[in-house]
Amino acid sequence: MKPSIITCSLLIIFLLFTSTISANTFKAYITPSFSASFLKFIDDSGTFLTSPNGTFKAAIFNPGAQQTSFYLCIIHVASSTITWSANRNRAVSNSGLMNLTLKGITISDKNGNNNPVWSTPPLRSQVDRLVLTDMGNLILLDPSNVSLWESFRYPTDTIVIGQRLSVGSSLSSSSSDSDLSPGNYNLTITSSDAILQWFGQTYWKLSMDTKAYKNSLSTVEYMAVNTTGFYLFGSDGTVPVYLVTLPVSNFRVATLDNYGHFIIKSFSFGTGWKQEFVGPDDGCGTPLACGRVGLCTDYDDPSSSSSSSSSSSPVCSCPQNFRVGSGNSGGCVPSNGSYSLPFSCNNNQSNSSLVVPSFLSLGNGLDYFHNIYSDPVMDSVDLSSCQDQCSKNCSCLGVFYRNSSGSCYVIENELGSILSSNNGANQDMFGFIKVSLGSTTTNDGTRDGETSQDGSGQFPVAAAVLLPVTGSTLLVAFLFFWWRRSIKSSKRQDMNKFGKTNNNNNPHSSGDLDAFYIPGLPRRFDYEELEKATDDFKTLIGSGGFGTVYKGVLSDNAVVAVKKIVNIGVQGKKDFCTEIAVIGNIHHVNLVKLKGFCVQGRHRFLVYEYMNRGSLDRTLFGGGPPLEWQERYDVALGTARGLAYLHAGCEHKIIHCDIKPENILLHDHFQAKISDFGLSKLLSPEQSGLFTTMRGTRGYLAPEWLTNSAITEKTDVYSFGMVLLELISGRKNCYFKSRSHSVDEDSNSGGRGGGGGGHNSSSSSMPGLIYFPLLALEKHEEGSYMDLADPRLEGRVTNEEVEKLVRIALCCVHEEPALRPNMAAVVGMLEGGTALPQPRIESLNFLRFYGRRFTEASMIAEENDENGGTPQGNSSSVTSGGSQVALVSYISSQSISGPR
Ligand SMILES: *[C@@H]1O[C@H](CO)[C@@H](O)[C@H](O)[C@H]1NC(C)=O
Ligand SMILES: *[C@@H]1O[C@H](CO)[C@@H](O)[C@H](O)[C@H]1NC(C)=O
Ligand SMILES: *[C@@H]1O[C@H](CO)[C@@H](O)[C@H](O)[C@H]1NC(C)=O
Ligand SMILES: *[C@@H]1O[C@H](CO)[C@@H](O)[C@H](O)[C@H]1NC(C)=O
Ligand SMILES: *[C@@H]1O[C@H](CO)[C@@H](O)[C@H](O)[C@H]1NC(C)=O
Ligand SMILES: *[C@@H]1O[C@H](CO)[C@@H](O)[C@H](O)[C@H]1NC(C)=O
Ligand SMILES: *[C@@H]1O[C@H](CO)[C@@H](O)[C@H](O)[C@H]1NC(C)=O
Ligand SMILES: *[C@@H]1O[C@H](CO)[C@@H](O)[C@H](O)[C@H]1NC(C)=O
Repeated sequence: MKPSIITCSLLIIFLLFTSTISANTFKAYITPSFSASFLKFIDDSGTFLTSPNGTFKAAIFNPGAQQTSFYLCIIHVASSTITWSANRNRAVSNSGLMNLTLKGITISDKNGNNNPVWSTPPLRSQVDRLVLTDMGNLILLDPSNVSLWESFRYPTDTIVIGQRLSVGSSLSSSSSDSDLSPGNYNLTITSSDAILQWFGQTYWKLSMDTKAYKNSLSTVEYMAVNTTGFYLFGSDGTVPVYLVTLPVSNFRVATLDNYGHFIIKSFSFGTGWKQEFVGPDDGCGTPLACGRVGLCTDYDDPSSSSSSSSSSSPVCSCPQNFRVGSGNSGGCVPSNGSYSLPFSCNNNQSNSSLVVPSFLSLGNGLDYFHNIYSDPVMDSVDLSSCQDQCSKNCSCLGVFYRNSSGSCYVIENELGSILSSNNGANQDMFGFIKVSLGSTTTNDGTRDGETSQDGSGQFPVAAAVLLPVTGSTLLVAFLFFWWRRSIKSSKRQDMNKFGKTNNNNNPHSSGDLDAFYIPGLPRRFDYEELEKATDDFKTLIGSGGFGTVYKGVLSDNAVVAVKKIVNIGVQGKKDFCTEIAVIGNIHHVNLVKLKGFCVQGRHRFLVYEYMNRGSLDRTLFGGGPPLEWQERYDVALGTARGLAYLHAGCEHKIIHCDIKPENILLHDHFQAKISDFGLSKLLSPEQSGLFTTMRGTRGYLAPEWLTNSAITEKTDVYSFGMVLLELISGRKNCYFKSRSHSVDEDSNSGGRGGGGGGHNSSSSSMPGLIYFPLLALEKHEEGSYMDLADPRLEGRVTNEEVEKLVRIALCCVHEEPALRPNMAAVVGMLEGGTALPQPRIESLNFLRFYGRRFTEASMIAEENDENGGTPQGNSSSVTSGGSQVALVSYISSQSISGPR
C-alpha cells in the first residue's frame, strides 16, 4: 500500500460513509430522462448528484443505516447530515426509483405499481436540467436557466445558509434518526416571532429567550442564518427584527431536532459540530422532558453557578397519585389502577370516555410549560368552575388553577410533562389531571389493573428505558461539570462522594428508584437475551479493567461485543443508567457505538458494536504480519479524530482518561474506533486507584496524574502521544530484553524474535533495556528518525514520514499540558493542513529523568524476579512512598505486564 497522505488529507470526513466519496460521483447536473435508485448507485450509497465543489450531494439514502426506509435526501457531505428530504412522509424501499422527466421529479416504489409516492408540483415549462448548488439547493431549471422549482422553498426540519423560512411556514421535526416522517414538534414563523409548538401547545418563543436581541419593531418576513448570525428579518428584508450574533462559520444550520429542541449549530473540519444556540435551553423545557405526566425538576448544578445557565440536570419522577408507567414510552400513570388517563376527543377510544371524568390532584408548587406562554382561559373563578369547564370539553385533559387569582389554565390535545420548581415558587398553583374510571389498556401498553403497587412486580428500571425524549445534552453538561468538579476536589472528598452514592443506591434497597427514569437511554437488553446472544458467554474476546468481553449475535443477526462489567463503583441503577445515557448519545465514526445495556439484579452489561479486527495492541504487538505504515497512519488519524470529537465535537467535553492501544479497536480498512470512553466514572474509588496505577504502569499516564494537578483533555493528548510512539516503533514504549539472550521477554512480543535493532542507544543505558520515548527524544535531537521506525517496515517508510509522527508525538507528551496541542490541532497536523510543530526540548527533559528511573526500576524488578516475589505485591507495597510515585508508575510496567 502506497502512502497517499495528500489524498487522505483531502478526505476529511467525520461521520458515516467516509468511504463513499469517489471521483465518479461528481456530476454537475443531470438531464431528463434519468432515473436513480439506491441499488443503482449502491457503490456510492445512493449518490447520484454532487454539488460543484462537493459540499453537498443528493442521494437515495437510508438514514440510520436501516434497510427499509429510503428517502431522496440532500446531504452535507463532510458532516453526513441530511438537510432536506423529498418524500419524508412516504419512504420507499431500496428499490424505490427517482425519475427525472420533462415534467419534474417523481419518486415511486417499484412494487407500488409506479404510482409516485412524491412528486414536484406542476411546472410552468419543461425541465432542462436538475442541479445541486454548493449551498445545498436542489433546483429544476428550464432551457433558459430559469428556476422552476427549488428544494429551498420546501424546508423540512432544517434550514442552511442562503435559505429562508418565511412567515407562516414551519419546520417540523423528524420522528427519529431513521424515520424522517414529521414528528410532533413545529417551529413556526409568525409576523412577530418564532415559536415552538407541540400539539398546538407553545413551549418556547424566541422573543422570550434571553439570548435573542430585539433590533426593530417592523413585522417579521422570514428567518435565516448566515455566516455571522441567526436572524428574523423584517418586512424590508434587510433589517433584522431579532438577531443572535454567532461566531463566524462557513457551514451552519438551524434545525428542529427529534426531541423538540430548536438548535443552531456550526460545523467545521477537525472539531465537528458545535452547538451555538438551543431553545428551550433548560432540561425541563421540552414538552416530554419526563414523558407524559412525568414530573420534571430542574436542579441547577451548584458547581456551575459561575458559568452560564446551560448546565442543569433534569430529574424525573412522578407527581403524587401517579406512578411510573410500564411499557416503553415512559411517563406516569395513576397509582390507583381503577383510573386511566383520558384521551383527547380526536383520538377514538371506545367507551371509557363516557364515564363521568374526575380529577386526580398533582399537588401544588407545580406548573405546565404551556401556561407560561398562554393566558388563563378564565380568571377569578373557583376551582370547581375551572374543572367543570374542562369536564365539558373532550379535548381538555387537565387543569392548572392559581389560587390567589382564581386563574384557570387548561391542558388541551395532549398531556406533556409537569414542571416542578425546586425553589418554592408557584406554591399557589395546583394541578389536576382528568382521569376516567376503568382499567383500559392505554396507549403506552399499561394494563393498569394488573400491575402491582408494592413494587415487587415491576422491574424498576423498565421505565427508564426508551423514553421518547432526551435531555441528554443537558445531562452531558451536568455530568461534565459534576465530573470536573469531582476531579478538581481532592481525592478524599471524592471518596466520600462515591461512598455516599453507593450507600444511597444499594441495589438491594432499590425503593426510590422506581420513581426515576432517565431520558436518552439506549436499548435495554434482558439478561436472557444476552445469554442467548453470546451462547451462554462462550466466546471470550477480551478482558480489561472493567471485566470481560464476549462475542455475541443478536436476534437481528447483528454481531456485538458484550462487555460484562464487574465490581463497578457506581452500583445504583439510576447512576449507572445516567452514565449509560451519556455514553449512548455520543456518536462518531471513530468511537465505538454503544448499542445497549443490561441492568438486571446484579448484572451489568454494555453491548457494543463488534469490531472485527480486535484491538490495536494485538495487531501492533502481536505475532501477526506487521501493520504497514499507511495503516498505522490511518489508525493514528482515526484515533485523533475520535478524541477531538470527545473533547470538542460533542459540545460538552468528555475526557477519556484511558487512551491506550487496548482501547483502540480496529474495523475494516484499519478504521480506528475508541472504546471505553465515559467509563472511568463507573469505577469505585478503590478501583480508580488501581486503575490509575495500571494506567501509569503502561506508560500512557501523563505527569499531572502524579502531581495532583488538574486533569484536562490535555491528559488524553499525552496518552495519545505515547500511543503514537508505539505505532512508530511497533512495540511497547517500555520493555526489556533479557540479559542472557536477545529474545524479548516483553509479554506482548509474541513470535517476534530479534526485534529492537538499532535500539542500543546510550539512553537505554543498560543493554537490552529500552524506554522508547527517551530514545525518540534523542533521535529527534540527532535528526536520525529512521532508527525509530519499526524495523519490520524496512524500506517501506521514509525518514520524513517517521519524522512527522515523531515530532507530533513529542509535542503531545510535553510535560507542561499547556504546551501540548489540542486534539483538533493534532488532526490538522496529521492531515497536513497545520504546519508541523517543533517539539520544545525544555518540556521534554522529564523523559530523561523517567528514563533513568525506569532503568533503576527495571533492576529492582529483575531482582524481584530472581527472588520470585510477586510483582503485583511489590508494586502496591511501594505505592505509599510519596517521592517514589514516579518510580512506581514505571516499575509496575514490568510488574504487571512484564516478565511472567
Ligand atoms: C421511472 O423510470 C423507469 C425507467 O426509466 C420506468 O420504468 C418507470 O416507469 C418510471 N416511473 C415513473 C413513475 O415515471
Ligand atoms: C463550496 O461552495 C460554498 C458556496 O459557495 C462555499 O461556502 C464553500 O466554502 C465551498 N467549499 C469548498 C470546499 O470549496
Ligand atoms: C445556463 O447555464 C449554464 C451553466 O451556467 C450555461 O452553460 C448555459 O449556457 C446557460 N444557458 C443559457 C440559455 O443561458
Ligand atoms: C405542524 O405544522 C403543520 C403545518 O403547519 C401542521 O399541519 C401540523 O399539524 C403541525 N403539527 C403539530 C404537532 O402541531
Ligand atoms: C449576516 O446578516 C446580517 C444581517 O443582515 C448582516 O449584517 C451581516 O453582514 C451578514 N453577514 C455576512 C457575512 O454576510
Ligand atoms: C381506587 O379508586 C376507586 C374509585 O374511586 C376506589 O374505590 C378505591 O378505593 C381506590 N383504591 C385505592 C387503593 O385507593
Ligand atoms: C371508534 O372505534 C369504534 C370501535 O372501536 C368504531 O366502531 C368507530 O368507527 C370508531 N370511530 C371513529 C371515528 O374512528
Ligand atoms: C359503549 O356504551 C354503550 C352504552 O353506554 C354500550 O351499549 C356499548 O355496548 C358500549 N360499547 C363498548 C365497546 O363497550
